[in-house]
Amino acid sequence: MGRVTLSQYLIQQQRAHKEIAPDLAALIEVVARSCKAISAAIGKGALAGILGSHGTQNVQGETQKELDVISNEMLIEATEWGGWLSGLASEEMEQPYSIPAQYPRGKYLLLFDPLDGSSNIDVNVSIGTIFSVLPCPKGVNDPAEKDFLQPGRNQVAAGFVVYGPATILVITLGHGAVAFTLDRETGTFLLTSENIGIPEDTSEFAINASNARNWHPPVKRYIEECLAGKTGPRGRDFNMRWIASMVADVFRVLSRGGVFMYPKDAKHEKGRLRLLYEANPMSFIIEQAGGAATDGDTRILDIQPTALHQRVGVVLGSKNEVVRVTDYHRE
Ligand code: F6P
Repeated sequence: MGRVTLSQYLIQQQRAHKEIAPDLAALIEVVARSCKAISAAIGKGALAGILGSHGTQNVQGETQKELDVISNEMLIEATEWGGWLSGLASEEMEQPYSIPAQYPRGKYLLLFDPLDGSSNIDVNVSIGTIFSVLPCPKGVNDPAEKDFLQPGRNQVAAGFVVYGPATILVITLGHGAVAFTLDRETGTFLLTSENIGIPEDTSEFAINASNARNWHPPVKRYIEECLAGKTGPRGRDFNMRWIASMVADVFRVLSRGGVFMYPKDAKHEKGRLRLLYEANPMSFIIEQAGGAATDGDTRILDIQPTALHQRVGVVLGSKNEVVRVTDYHRE
C-alpha cells in the first residue's frame, strides 16, 4: 500500500478513538479541500492578478490583502453549508459569521486565520492558514461572540497549512500531531510525518529582533544569554531564524525543535498574535507534539478568552527552553 491519504487517516482515527465524530472528520476534510484551492490560487501569484492590497482594513486595523479576502471567502463557502458548524469566526471579520438560515446547524464552531503571514504574500515567502475547532455550547443554535470564548484546552481539533515550496497540512485531533504533504499532481494530502515529536532541547530561537528595545527584562535576559553563545551562561552557540509567518516558524519548530516567541512588550502590551485562531491552535499542536506553549507565565491552552480578537504573548516550542523563558518571567 502507498502512503496514507488524509481521508484514510481520518477514518483510522475515528475507528481508534470513538470520540472523533464522523462530522469532525468531514469538517477537517472540507477545510483541507479549501486549503488546496487557496494553495492553487497562491501558486499562480501575479499571474492570477490577486496580489496586492484589497483596499480595506480588518478589525485589527491591518490592511487586507486581496488574498486575505479571497481565502476568507473560500473557507466560508466550503464550510457553511454542510451541517457541521453552528458558527464561524475569522481574523478577517469583526463579528462571528452567522450560518445562513437555509443550512442545517452542527455541533462545532470553526475559527480561522485564513491567510497568516500576509506581509509575506507579495514577496513569495511561505504563508499559511490556521484553524481551530471548538464544540458549540449545548442548546446554542446561533452562537454569539461569548460562545467562542472557550479556553484552548476545549479544542477538539486544530491544524494549519503552510503554502511553501511544498504545501503541508499539520493537524491534531488530540492524539498526537501529524503532517501531510500535498501531491500537486493528484490533489491529495498524503501522510508524511506521523507522531511528530519536538526535541526537548534546542539551540535555535525565533523572535522579531526589531522589537528588542521594547522587550521586558525576562525576554531580554533570555535572548542575551542565547546571543552570548559558548562563552556565556548557556555554554553553547545559538542560531536565530525568523520568517515572519507564524505558520512557517512553527512548522520549523515541529520539524527540528526550537523556541518561537512573540512576547508581550512595551509596544505590544497585550501581545501581537491572536489567542483564538493563532495561539490556541498552534499551542494545541505543539503540546500534542511534546512541546510547550505559554504566554510567558500561563499555559496558553488554560487562558480564559475575553474577546474574539484578543491578543496574547506567545512562547512556544522545545519544552526545556519554554520552561526556562517562563521561569525567567516568574522569577
Ligand atoms: O498576524 C500574524 C503574523 O503575520 C505572524 O504570522 C507573524 O509571526 C507576525 O505576524 C509577524 O509580525 P511582525 O512583522 O509585526 O513582527
